[in-house]
Amino acid sequence: MIRVAAIADVHMAPDARGTLREAFSTLDDLADVLLVAGDLTRLGTEDELQVLLDELEGVDIPRVAVFGNHDYESDRVDALVKLLDAAGVRVLEGDATVVRVGDETLGIAGTKGFGGGFAGACGTAFGEPEMKAFIGHTAALADELHRALSSLHTDARVALTHYAPVKDTLGAERPEIYPFLGSYLLGEAIDAAGADLIVHGHAHNGIEKGVTPGGIPVRNVALPVLKRAYTVYCLLGS
Ligand SMILES: [Fe+2]
Ligand SMILES: [Fe+2]
Repeated sequence: MIRVAAIADVHMAPDARGTLREAFSTLDDLADVLLVAGDLTRLGTEDELQVLLDELEGVDIPRVAVFGNHDYESDRVDALVKLLDAAGVRVLEGDATVVRVGDETLGIAGTKGFGGGFAGACGTAFGEPEMKAFIGHTAALADELHRALSSLHTDARVALTHYAPVKDTLGAERPEIYPFLGSYLLGEAIDAAGADLIVHGHAHNGIEKGVTPGGIPVRNVALPVLKRAYTVYCLLGS
């Protein structure tokens, strides 16, 4: 069994220092890997990210993250990657990593993802260049995720995104903003490649549990949804 701890949307900043440290202090006993599904910070600065890394001090299990839209706000993503790298946190941006848990292997493929909406109410790459760029960005990230997932030949596979791959987990979010919360292209890509679990965030007013059209469990692990520092999912492997 592989125990996957997951959280998203911690939006760390100096005034949140100390809020997660105690919960993280027992994480090594409860899980084999920690996934962080984006919005690590409020404004994407190194100072804010350092607060999260300080909270995670003492956590030795593998830590894997994708960025969220907030982490892009200050245009400091390269610096954030360096900081995470130095702290031993693997950042996925359309690629994959493998974690060994005892005799089993867990593959994690990740991307920030992007918006566009869901079946029957989605944008298309048509008309103005800006619209083509918007949907094109989502399509490119979905393609990368498909490739990354397909490259994994592990006992279990998880897809890690910030934006939602289905609307099931959007809960009480207003339907008017669904196109800014996720895209069916991400769900389609994951269904086509296959996975045992999808973890995402971004929809603060969403609900935890959903499923893709292909039957893959989807979990929205945004902090305001979980209302705790993380939750743990158990995967059986093959
Ligand atoms: Fe967020
Ligand atoms: Fe977000």
